[in-house]
Amino acid sequence: MVVWTDFETATIKDIFSKLDSEVVGPQALARCLIVYPWTQRYFAKFGNLYNAAAIMGNPMVAAHGKTVVQGLELAVKNMDNIKATYADLSVLHSEKLRVDPDNFKLLADCITIVVAAQMGAGFTPEVQAAFQKFLAVVISALGKQYH
Ligand code: HEM
Repeated sequence: MVVWTDFETATIKDIFSKLDSEVVGPQALARCLIVYPWTQRYFAKFGNLYNAAAIMGNPMVAAHGKTVVQGLELAVKNMDNIKATYADLSVLHSEKLRVDPDNFKLLADCITIVVAAQMGAGFTPEVQAAFQKFLAVVISALGKQYH
């Protein structure tokens, strides 16, 4: 079981209470699709992902980015039981979508970058450590079906 310090719990809850899923989600997913273009293969039905401008202006990318952040919010609400909370999502990503689990880390890093840019000086090293620990737990839970 994952152990969280009071600081980590407070920091994660604070970040997500202020975070706008309609901004962070689309920006992070678009960034992932642009910087790591091989991740586009899972989103063929999203249509035009031809270049950075098309990706950033694609409403399906925006909608799915929001969905991803809502998935993270579910983990925030269940920080002591993320594995069980993500059981269905893990099956979906591994067995149905067959997403290469390396890509989880890539999207997580894009989420970190977007959150850091939004928080500015508030994104201290301690906050970064807490946030990245949270994302590492999410990634582990999401990839559970692969092990
Ligand atoms: C679907 C979360 C990473 C590809 C979803 C859904 C959620 C989610 C909540 C919707 C599930 C549903 O409809 O029941 C996450 C989280 C991630 C993550 C929290 C990591 C931080 C990834 C990555 C990829 C990916 C890295 C591929 C590179 C997909 C695809 C769908 C999906 C293709 C289905 C989209 C659709 O059919 O509209 N994900 N995901 N996910 N995810 Fe992920």
